[in-house]
Amino acid sequence: MHVRRPPRGVAGVESLKEKAGVSACGFVTDGMVVGLGTGSTVRYTIIELARRIRQEDLKVSGVPTSEDTRQLAEMLEIPLLEIQDAKNLDLTIDGADEFDSNFDLIKGGGGALTREKIVALASDAMVVVADDSKHVGTLGAFPLPVEVDEMTWESTRKGISALCPGEVSLRGGTDDPYVTDNCGHILDCSFGPTISDPAALEAKIRSIGGVVEAGLFVGICDAVVMASHGEVSTLVKSGGRLN
Ligand code: 5RP
Repeated sequence: MHVRRPPRGVAGVESLKEKAGVSACGFVTDGMVVGLGTGSTVRYTIIELARRIRQEDLKVSGVPTSEDTRQLAEMLEIPLLEIQDAKNLDLTIDGADEFDSNFDLIKGGGGALTREKIVALASDAMVVVADDSKHVGTLGAFPLPVEVDEMTWESTRKGISALCPGEVSLRGGTDDPYVTDNCGHILDCSFGPTISDPAALEAKIRSIGGVVEAGLFVGICDAVVMASHGEVSTLVKSGGRLN
């Protein structure tokens, strides 16, 4: 029998995000240096981290992946380090726009993909926090965010369009383009409905002049804390760095 589930309202989605976000904070232990991701789900992890620092005297330092996250963490009085001053990050916790069963990701819906990737790659492990709407069979339905140089975005768009079967659009439009924390722009690239080889596509995109970073995170994520229908489950990648 096929059971139809009622569509989730905004409050339902928000409560799933909160559950996953709070649960993911359980990966943080005393003394860690933690990469703090960007987005509406990991926001709950950051709020929970601040609560644990206050109430449990947890000693941690955070490395923010965006100016938005920096502002939130500063407001919550989480001790922060700059990426260049953090010798070793124990863990990064971040959101995702899509994740597949290989734990590969599309990120950058919030525009912070470049620093998110730098921080994740500098970490001993990466945990993604998401509701189950982000879980896909194959990556690609979500338009792939690519950060590009602000001055030369038009020629970079031509290069990407030669690879991309769908639309490549400048986020925010030409009149008011979105500007990243690195003063770049974002091209949202419709490579879907599916991306058959995310690693190969990432390499091709990164070889185009003017590309700063692509929102494909391949072989970086070690676990996903996923909220689904009121339950939180933690999926750990077999052979990943959290085994
Ligand atoms: C920001 C990101 C976010 O982590 C991603 O867009 C998910 O955000 P949210 O939890 O708000 O859905 O990659 O660049």
